[in-house]
Amino acid sequence: MEEPRLGIPKLGPVIAIDGPAGTGKSTATRRLADRLGFVHIDTGALYRAIAWLVLERMKVVPGNDFAAVAMDIAGQVHLEFRRQATKNPANRVFANGQDVTDYIRTPEVTMTASQVSSIPQVRASLLGLQRRLGCQGKSILEGRDIGTVVFPDADVKFFLNASVDERAKRRLIELEAAGSDAPSFEEVRSQIEARDRIDSTRAVAPLKKASDSIEVDTSQMTLDQVVDTMEKWVNSRIK
Ligand code: DC
Repeated sequence: MEEPRLGIPKLGPVIAIDGPAGTGKSTATRRLADRLGFVHIDTGALYRAIAWLVLERMKVVPGNDFAAVAMDIAGQVHLEFRRQATKNPANRVFANGQDVTDYIRTPEVTMTASQVSSIPQVRASLLGLQRRLGCQGKSILEGRDIGTVVFPDADVKFFLNASVDERAKRRLIELEAAGSDAPSFEEVRSQIEARDRIDSTRAVAPLKKASDSIEVDTSQMTLDQVVDTMEKWVNSRIK
C-alpha cells in the first residue's frame, strides 16, 4: 500500500527511479540528471554509509547484536551529500563529517547494506532525510522504494529492470575493468540473486514496481537508449 501524501513542500519536480542492482540505474540516473539539470540523489549510498559504519563498529566491538548496532547508528548518524568538483565521483557521501565515498562500494559493504536496509527502523530513520533532500528542488532520487514509499507523489516514476543474466554479465565487466580478482559468472549471478531475494522479500518497503511507474527493460538497450527513453517520458510529463 502506498503511503499518504508527504506534508513537506516540494520546491521542484521529483523523479523516482527504482529497480534492482545491475540494470544500469546509477549511470543512467546520473546522465539523465545532468541532461535535465536535476540533482541526483543516490539513496543506496545512504544505506551503504550506514552499513560501513556498522562494520567499523562491529570490528571494534565484535559480538554485538547486528540489528541493534544498525538501529543505533541509523538513529544518530548525520548523513549528507557534498559536491567536490575535484574528486571522482564528484558527488560525495559524508557520515558524521567524514567522507566515506571511497569505502562504500566493497562487496562486504554491498552485502551488509542489503541486510541493514531490511531493518524497518533503519528505513524509518532514513525516510525524513530522503524526503527533505528530494524536496529541495528539481531532484531525481534513485533507489528501491522511491516511487512506492519515499515519494509516492513523484512527478515521474521509472522502474528499470533487466534479466539476471544480463545484470551478472554487466557486473562482471565492471569488476574486470576495476582490476579486481573477478569471480566466476555463476558466483556473480548467485550474488545478484541473493541480493534480489533480500531486497524484494523484506517486510518493509520491498523492492517492487509502483503501479504508476514506467517500466524500462534495459536488457537489450544501450545506456544512451535508456537515457533517451527516460528523457522523452520526462519531457512529456513535466512541462
Ligand atoms: O543501489 P545500491 O546497490 O547502492 O543500494 C544498496 C542497498 O541498499 C541495496 O541492498 C538496496 C538498499 N536500498 C534500499 O533498500 N532502498 C533504497 N531506497 C536504496 C537502496
